[in-house]
Amino acid sequence: MSTRIYSCLKCIGEKIIENKDFLTELDREIGDADHGVNMARGFRAVIEKVPSEEHDIGAVLKKTGMTLLSTVGGASGPLYGTAYMEAAKVLAGKESVNAEDFKLSLEAAIAGIQKRGKASKGEKTMLDSLIPALDAFKEKVDAGGSFGDGLDAACAAANEGIKFTKTIAATKGRASYLGDRSIGHQDPGATSATMTLEVIRDFIKE
Ligand SMILES: Nc1ncnc2c1ncn2[C@@H]1O[C@H](COP(=O)(O)OP(=O)(O)O)[C@@H](O)[C@H]1O
Ligand SMILES: [Mg+2]
Repeated sequence: MSTRIYSCLKCIGEKIIENKDFLTELDREIGDADHGVNMARGFRAVIEKVPSEEHDIGAVLKKTGMTLLSTVGGASGPLYGTAYMEAAKVLAGKESVNAEDFKLSLEAAIAGIQKRGKASKGEKTMLDSLIPALDAFKEKVDAGGSFGDGLDAACAAANEGIKFTKTIAATKGRASYLGDRSIGHQDPGATSATMTLEVIRDFIKE
């Protein structure tokens, strides 16, 4: 029997692998057509290498981050790798996650991405889905919403974030070479980040 955290990561991996061509096509429009390929390679390695019997969520996420770091490549490899490793620190020793844990781990993941990539909201990156998702989560839960309600709000905001990336020019990463010609295209990293949040939501609400 696999642990829940392993099953959740496997579901994230399967979703990314299923959407490999879609993510790659998005990256073809404003990048170098490898985001789906990179992420699918990384998550195949995660599914294979991460221990399916380990209960410590921190330990599992640390291994996930290290695996993504060493297999994904590109800009997104170190960024996703850091995100999972920072979340791992917050969840060290935990065997389940509540709304507060989720908030703190998403906060840490975003802080890690920002420290490493030096981007902020509005630069057409994964942060345009992740930051609004965190804000919406906090707002919903602070107003008395359940963990599941918070995750629904987070996913809705992340999807709005994807739409927002279509309206702006990239100022970070490879897409920034296109300048204003990147307007009209949705960001691949914001798309894969939203997929990740949706799988986590479905998993926790299940
Ligand atoms: N500095 C950054 N901060 C946050 N996200 C970034 C940054 N640079 C790029 N990204 C994200 O990485 C995605 C591209 O990933 P990928 O195609 O795998 O890497 P590369 O751009 O090196 O080919 C972009 O869509 C964007 O969301
Ligand atoms: Mg790319």
